[in-house]
Order: sequence, then C-alpha cells, then structure tokens
Amino acid sequence: MPRSATKRIAILISGRGSNMVALADAVREGAIPNAEIAIVISDKLHAAGLESARERGIETLVIERGARTREEHDDKIVAALAAREIDLVCLAGYMRVLSSEFIDAYRGRILNIHPSLLPAFPGLDAQRQALEHGAKVSGCTVHFVDETLDGGPIVAQREVPVHEDDTVESLSARILIEEHKLYPEAVAIVLTNS
Ligand code: GRF
Repeated sequence: MPRSATKRIAILISGRGSNMVALADAVREGAIPNAEIAIVISDKLHAAGLESARERGIETLVIERGARTREEHDDKIVAALAAREIDLVCLAGYMRVLSSEFIDAYRGRILNIHPSLLPAFPGLDAQRQALEHGAKVSGCTVHFVDETLDGGPIVAQREVPVHEDDTVESLSARILIEEHKLYPEAVAIVLTNS
C-alpha cells in the first residue's frame, strides 16, 4: 500500500466505548492523519458504544460469541476485517482474549489500551489491583497485542497519581481521562511508522 493511502482502522468493543469515541473524534479532527475508522465491531449486542459509533456515521457490526468456539468466533471477525481491508485493529474495552489465529493474521497490527502502567497489574480490575497494592502511581498503557496477557510491546504510557482517598471509581475516572488522550497519540505514532 502506498504510504499516503488512508489507513483503515477497525475498533473492537464490548461496552461503553469511550476510547472508541476518543479515537473516532481524533480521526475526525485530524489528530490521527490519513486514517479512517472503517468499522466498529462488538461482541455484545447491547454495547453502549455501538450507538455512539452509529451517531458518528461509522459502520457497526455485532458478532456475538454465542455457541461458537473462540476460534470460530475470531474467524468471523477476521473475515469481516479482511473484507474491509483493515490496516490496524484497535481493541478498546474488548473483553475477549484473541485466538492465536487472529493474532497471527494481524500480527503487529493490533493495539490495546490497558488502565495500568504495564507490566504492572495486567488482566482484569487493573485499577483495583493498583489500590490493593498501595501503588502511589498508576496510569495507562497502549501496547501491541501478542499471545501474552497484556504483555506485548509497549507503544506509549502515561502516569496518573494515586490519591490516598481514591476509590476504584475515582482512580478509574482519572486514568480514563488520560486514556482518551494517549490512545489517539499512540495510534498516530504507529500509523506514522507503518
Ligand atoms: C478502559 O479502561 C480500557 O483501558 C480497558 O477497558 C476500559 C474500556 O472503557 N481496556 P471504554 O469502553 O473505552 O469506555
């Protein structure tokens, strides 16, 4: 593909989709140059982010797991991505582990955002883990997705202070503000270098 061609981004969500909205708005405002959000795919029929995507005129697709195996489910998603000639896949609150077939098909072209300073606190409930460990600093990380759990190469990170009186909710909200800035920056970096 010529370097100047518009890069086609797919965003995978399972829920609220606020990072998806941050990416879509960054593309619209030109903060992620030469890119378009080609599709938003959800594994949950009632993911709130689907409506936010539709409001922005972005194609949406629901591919539920149902009775499928992980491989069968991911096959369907990969087929949808291939049909749309997707260049970059952004996981944004997508709550499923990808099959090795999916990772292989898009190796080096799948990003995820995680609400901690990886490699600290991978997996679920990263903000709760930070509080339970007494961390004084946490943050967020954008990384490439490989077969490890939240363990792929790091693209960008942002620190966020942990306050003495923080709850999971207050810390999550403070981290989320930074997520919404960091993810577009990281995507722009990756696309510029691809
Ligand atoms: C974010 O905290 C993200 O880091 C994590 O899941 C949350 C998704 O939020 N992976 P949203 O759906 O983007 O609002």
